[in-house]
Amino acid sequence: MGIEDILMYDESLFNNINAFDPDYMPPNYNFRDTQMEGMAMAIRPAMRGGQPSNAIILGSPATGKTTAIKKVFEMVEKTTEKVICVYVNCQIHTTRFGIFSQVYKKVFGYLPPETGIPFSKIYAEIMKNLQKNEKSLIVAFDDINYLFQSKNANKVVYDLLRAYEEYPGVRTSIFAILSDLEFKYAFDKNVNTVFIPQEIMFPLYKYSEIEDILRDRAKAGFFPGVLSDDILEQIAMYTLENGDLRVGINLLKSCGNIAEASASREITQEHFDKAIDSLVSINVSETLKSLNDVEKELLKMIVDYDGIYTAGDLSEEYKQKTGSSYASFNRTLEKLEFVRLIDTKFTGKGSRGQSRQIILRFNPEDYQI
Ligand SMILES: Nc1ncnc2c1ncn2[C@@H]1O[C@H](COP(=O)(O)OP(=O)(O)O)[C@@H](O)[C@H]1O
Ligand SMILES: [Mg+2]
Repeated sequence: MGIEDILMYDESLFNNINAFDPDYMPPNYNFRDTQMEGMAMAIRPAMRGGQPSNAIILGSPATGKTTAIKKVFEMVEKTTEKVICVYVNCQIHTTRFGIFSQVYKKVFGYLPPETGIPFSKIYAEIMKNLQKNEKSLIVAFDDINYLFQSKNANKVVYDLLRAYEEYPGVRTSIFAILSDLEFKYAFDKNVNTVFIPQEIMFPLYKYSEIEDILRDRAKAGFFPGVLSDDILEQIAMYTLENGDLRVGINLLKSCGNIAEASASREITQEHFDKAIDSLVSINVSETLKSLNDVEKELLKMIVDYDGIYTAGDLSEEYKQKTGSSYASFNRTLEKLEFVRLIDTKFTGKGSRGQSRQIILRFNPEDYQI
């Protein structure tokens, strides 16, 4: 280490390390105007004492849904006192009591006591307050699929949307936010008659958008000169090909940490490569943890096989071992490929014509399956 490096050692590359936090609110929020206008249109009637619309907000993970809703709610609250916006993270709040406690907090400014008060009382106090003050209520359920898992979705949505029956004049609407595009949300019949949502789609970001967003984030988080265009482009490309925006933002941060740990004043190619290596290993262990027993079984068979597996050989073995159908085998194999633990490649060499060769994408010696 040269004298200059020693002197520089204490100096951070980070101008604001919080810029890489998951809950950081980017002041510059581009590419989502259409979606935010859609939300505003749904809320607008409430600004003039009318009935706000319901909305369902759809998009893959990290397409900006949570950020957009929070920004819009913030703007609404700055503009009017007539609309109460409640943001509910359904990964955290899954019970009817928990969710209405969040609403209560927004209406009264403090949480209700956790014990000793029945749900019906909390509910009544909320609705009476809305009625008396002529305020509308909009509740955003972020990642609402979790609410279906806890089987509370129907009740909670029904409680909210039918409030006007018992409390005339009360105007409520809900925004349901969904990341899992395969998740089929199905409300009960009686909820369907009141929940008629307008759909707001968040498409995936294109390469140029990812690059722009990451450049902005790097500007907010690093001192000037820390990140070169070349590394930024590599991070953006990796993000596009291997993950979502969150991966890109995390990569920026870990590149910064690695560069800082080696007392460098900028992020080099070597730092980037190291960051990618550690990312890959985290992803593999996370993915392995998320597999079900059948998926694990098939993966073990692939790992244990000493040689080149084709899908044909494997399906035979799988059928014998598990007694499952070819369709089930195919589904499981597709899942393993989808989560990027394996690749399949058509070789054309199989005994039954076209055959798929299976390639592991990680070193099984490094992980426990
Ligand atoms: N248009 C954008 N501009 C700046 N940052 C963005 C943009 N879209 C998403 N992000 C960032 O990407 C991450 C994921 O966004 P988020 O709103 O949580 O997505 P979602 O709720 O769709 O999963 C957050 O760190 C967020 O700040
Ligand atoms: Mg989200």
